[in-house]
Amino acid sequence: MIGIIGAMEDEVAQLKKNMEIEETTEVASLSFCRGKLSGREIVVVRSGIGKVNAAICAQTMILRYAPSRIINSGVAGGIGADVKIGDLVLADGAIQHDVDTTQIGDQIGMVSGINLVVIPTSSEMNRVLAEAARRCAYQGNVHIGRIASGDQFISSAEKLHWIASTFGAVACEMESGSIAQVCYINGTEYTAVRCISDNADSNAGVDYEQFSTFAAHQTTELLCTALPMLENI
Ligand code: ADE
Repeated sequence: MIGIIGAMEDEVAQLKKNMEIEETTEVASLSFCRGKLSGREIVVVRSGIGKVNAAICAQTMILRYAPSRIINSGVAGGIGADVKIGDLVLADGAIQHDVDTTQIGDQIGMVSGINLVVIPTSSEMNRVLAEAARRCAYQGNVHIGRIASGDQFISSAEKLHWIASTFGAVACEMESGSIAQVCYINGTEYTAVRCISDNADSNAGVDYEQFSTFAAHQTTELLCTALPMLENI
């Protein structure tokens, strides 16, 4: 089974619409939809925004459904001139940019317990997702790079440059780093696929309003192509 987590309804609605839902279960105020999409067994859930909501959701999903793989799907702010609205980013490592225990001697971004700054993601799943983007002639560039999460909507050039120069991230959002942590400690294969809705700059709020629904649909459409391909890895 593959678990799919999106923060907002827009980020999971199309999957729920396209799948054959066999069961919907409420746990911890989350609504898990289990069923089939293109013959593939999946469970889909909306986590809510932010790292804590996403972590609660991922851990609950793992305990209840034991998926072999989890994909975090949704939108993100693009970092760098190359990463444009509509582009796709596959997470080659997940970061939590708001974690800072440097005052007690740690590296910036180091997540206590697992003691990592860059939490690994599945290169095999990224390969399949990139191949799916080629197959469906995805309109936009596909980047494989680090995604940085934090409990902030980034809308300043200063902050996004800091995230880029400190962590080498190409996109920012608010969930995938915490889901990566949960998957890492549970040994669940994981990646995040995000479509760029804004450039995390001073115009980010306006761009997000305009492009987030479109961007969310781009990732769910890609997943509809990718899910049957993922069965075979
Ligand atoms: N999700 C989409 N755009 C974002 C941004 N600029 N900051 C944080 N999360 C986002």
